[in-house]
Amino acid sequence: MNIENITTVGVCGAGSMGAGIVQTAAQAGFQVKVVDVSEVVWARALKTITTSLERMLKKEKISEADMAAALARISFSTDVATLAGVPFIFEAVFESAEVKKELFGKLDAVCGDDVIYATNTSSLAITEMAALVKRPANFIGMHFFNPVPMMKLVEIIPGMQTVQATTDLALAMAEKIGKTSITCKDTPGFVVNRLLVPYMLDAVRLLEEGVASAADIDTAMKLGCGMPMGPLELQDYAGTDIGYHVGNIFYDYMKDARFAPPGLLRNMIKAGYLGRKTGKGFYDYSDK
Ligand SMILES: NC(=O)c1ccc[n+]([C@@H]2O[C@H](COP(=O)([O-])OP(=O)(O)OC[C@H]3O[C@@H](n4cnc5c(N)ncnc54)[C@H](O)[C@@H]3O)[C@@H](O)[C@H]2O)c1
Repeated sequence: MNIENITTVGVCGAGSMGAGIVQTAAQAGFQVKVVDVSEVVWARALKTITTSLERMLKKEKISEADMAAALARISFSTDVATLAGVPFIFEAVFESAEVKKELFGKLDAVCGDDVIYATNTSSLAITEMAALVKRPANFIGMHFFNPVPMMKLVEIIPGMQTVQATTDLALAMAEKIGKTSITCKDTPGFVVNRLLVPYMLDAVRLLEEGVASAADIDTAMKLGCGMPMGPLELQDYAGTDIGYHVGNIFYDYMKDARFAPPGLLRNMIKAGYLGRKTGKGFYDYSDK
């Protein structure tokens, strides 16, 4: 299969990442067939996409015609069977091996032999997931970053059985949708999270040891290293439970103490201090 022959892509899951992938692929000129579990979820995703396009329109990055054309290329269904015949499918459903396994079973039952599956998983092993499908040679990781329309990077992760033609197609797809890709081995965290997770956990350790205050740790990394957000602010923004969960998964896999979430973070999760979404994390947001 050749990238020039692909006019339609599928996207399973229209949450934070899926909605971003849908928008990006539609803006790149693909017909995009989306599948999620309910119309309610889709209404929310479509609102996110429309708001994001409107923002681009306001900044004169796109025209009204571009926006209308992108939206017209998107269609939605709750039925996986609508993806029969689609040659390239992005998977961005919940980060659960069980949910993904069930979905790939359904996709395998309707999709053709040549279909490429590109999973956006952050923490599951690509080779293990590829083992769930009929054609692991056509299975690959394409790890996007949030928010997808803004973030330029895609990590491309071939599994043990992925053939070069699949990797080449994933690289071509990333380029066609305007992303810069890097390729890496199927190891926990790939490149970005392998470096980012221990860094964020180390910031919690500094706080736990009383080396500096949360505000001073964040200021140090912003003004000393040019980071747009400090490591503790970033965890509050993403949800402190995310780093905790991902750190535990990586630790279980690698038994490397750098990935073990510190006690302070564990206690924060137990206390419900999950960051912005609960009004309290490393900082207090109760008045916002
Ligand atoms: N959030 C991030 O910053 C981020 C970054 C990179 C990668 N990822 C990965 O992307 C994937 C999705 O993450 P997210 O943050 O968008 O999650 P999310 O919870 O925002 O969205 C998941 C979506 O999947 C849908 N879904 C669940 N089961 C489904 C099924 N059987 N069929 C179709 N849709 C189904 C849900 O209804 C929901 O809309 C995960 O694998 C995650 O690891 C997330």
